[in-house]
Amino acid sequence: MKIIDGKKVSIEILDEIKSSVDIRVSNNLKVPHLAAVLVGDDGPSQTYVNSKIKACERVGFESSLFKFQKSISEVDLINEIEKINRNNNIDGFIVQLPLPDGINQENILSKVDPSKDVDGFHPVNYGKMALGIETFLPATPAGIIELISRCKIDLKSKKCLVIGRSQIVGRPISILLSQNKIFGNATVTVAHSRTTNLKELCINSDIIISAIGIPQFIKGNMIKKGVTIIDVGISRIDDKSSSKGYKIVGDVDFENVSSKVGFITPVPGGVGPMTIAMLLKNTLKSCSQTD
Ligand code: GUN
Repeated sequence: MKIIDGKKVSIEILDEIKSSVDIRVSNNLKVPHLAAVLVGDDGPSQTYVNSKIKACERVGFESSLFKFQKSISEVDLINEIEKINRNNNIDGFIVQLPLPDGINQENILSKVDPSKDVDGFHPVNYGKMALGIETFLPATPAGIIELISRCKIDLKSKKCLVIGRSQIVGRPISILLSQNKIFGNATVTVAHSRTTNLKELCINSDIIISAIGIPQFIKGNMIKKGVTIIDVGISRIDDKSSSKGYKIVGDVDFENVSSKVGFITPVPGGVGPMTIAMLLKNTLKSCSQTD
C-alpha cells in the first residue's frame, strides 16, 4: 500500500505559490486577494473557511471574510456579491456551500463575476470545464488530478468509478477524467444514490474516487487488489479514546482495505489540504490575469 500524502503535496504547492507571491512583490505587482462569503452558522463551513483564510496568510495573500446571518435575503446577498464583483482589490472569491435553506444556490453562484470565480462554479466556467476549455477548475477535482498526476498514476483506459454526483466533486471529476487530456482518458462510471450494483462496480474498478460522505463505507471485500482509492469523504465518528470525543474518517475503512489497495489517500491529510492549495492557485491565476 502506498499512501498518497496530500498534506505533503499541498505544502509543496503552497510553497510554490508563496515563491510566486514573493516574486510579484519584488516586481511591485499586486498581492493576490481571496475573499470568502459565509452565510449562516454551519460548523464545518466555518472550519473550512477559516482554513482557507489561514492558508492565505501562509502564502502571503490578502484575504477577507464576508459573514452574513442565515436570515439574509437572496436579494441582499446578491447585492453583497455584486459589491465584491466591483471591488478591484479582490481577485477571487468563493461562496461557501452549502447555503442555508431558502437561498437558491444556483441563482447566487450565477451572480459571481466569472473572472473572479475561483471555485469554478459559475455556469460559464462550469461549461468551459465540461467543454475542455481552459478555465478555473473546481478546487477539489483539480486537487485530485494534481495528486494522481504527481503520483504518476496513469488513467489511460483504466476503469474509474466515481461514487457521488455532486456539483462540487462527483460531477466535475467524472467529466474531467474522461476527457482526452494528459490526466484523462479513463473509462468513467458514475455511481450515485440510485445505483443498485455498487459492490459489483467497485470490485471491477481500477480507480475509485469516493465522495458519498458515508463513514468507512468501502470495505476490503468490495475492492480488487492493487486498486487506487481517492477518498473525498470527511465524516466525524465517535471516538472515546480521543480528547475531542470524535475522530475524522473518510468513506473508506482504511484499516480494512489496507492490505489490498495499491495507492490510497488518507483522511485526514489526503484530498482535503489539496482543495485549499488548488483554490489559492486559482486565485494567483486570477490575479496574474489582471497584471
Ligand atoms: N463546500 C464544500 N466544498 C466546497 C468548495 O470546494 N467550495 C465551496 N465554495 N464550498 C464548498
